[in-house]
Amino acid sequence: MRKKIVAGNWKMNKTYSEAVPLLYEVKDLLWKSKKGESVIKIIIPPSLYIHDFYETTKGLKNIFIGAQNCSYEESGAFTGEISASMIKSVGGSYVLIGHSERRSYFKETNEELKRKTDITLAHGLHPIFCVGESKDKRESGEHFKVVESQINESLFHLQPGNFKKVVIAYEPVWAIGTGLTATSTQAQEMHHHIRSLIEDKYGRILAEETSILYGGSCNEKNAAELFACPDVDGGLIGGASLKAKEFVEIIQAIPQ
Ligand code: PGA
Repeated sequence: MRKKIVAGNWKMNKTYSEAVPLLYEVKDLLWKSKKGESVIKIIIPPSLYIHDFYETTKGLKNIFIGAQNCSYEESGAFTGEISASMIKSVGGSYVLIGHSERRSYFKETNEELKRKTDITLAHGLHPIFCVGESKDKRESGEHFKVVESQINESLFHLQPGNFKKVVIAYEPVWAIGTGLTATSTQAQEMHHHIRSLIEDKYGRILAEETSILYGGSCNEKNAAELFACPDVDGGLIGGASLKAKEFVEIIQAIPQ
């Protein structure tokens, strides 16, 4: 059975003195309840905090720490960049690749994201690869095409053994941070489409094993309906991951 995953993308939020208590709050709430125990929980704070977060959560079942980005270069004179090997060396297990904010503000291309995916996998990290269409593309009915080319150009060169380590997150750009969530029908339809693309490329077994997360204004109120969709395997949560109670409620909304 494929993994159920809830990942919290903290983006560029929280100073260190705010971040540590929030992590403890999440940890304490999870500790108190058995509900959601089997869900893979990934906290993705600003990279500066990865090591501390790893040390704080080390040994806890099904909790992992991730990075929000990494360089496609191995090492060297790339001022300001953080490499996959560095992320690994401080305890990171996952890396967000191709978040729409990186694609739009930092002009990351499918080709660059392909290189980021490769380097992440080469260092034993799991990419959480984000795809999703803009409002315009949804309105013009090109949403399937957009997502298809994002996946084709950045992921489908992978050998099955590596593709297996990738988590996909469908995040319609128009839903991120806007309060506009995709309906469960829209989410299911796209997740099913993504799974059928994987099946065409890698076969049924791998397609059935790939976790596909939904992201975009997912919160404690709408999570249960989204997670009840057969092809939605969890969520990538932005805003609501910055509130411990809400984030844990989202985790607990995964069907048991
Ligand atoms: P949101 O962000 O939950 O605040 O919409 C999701 C994301 O950007 O991953």
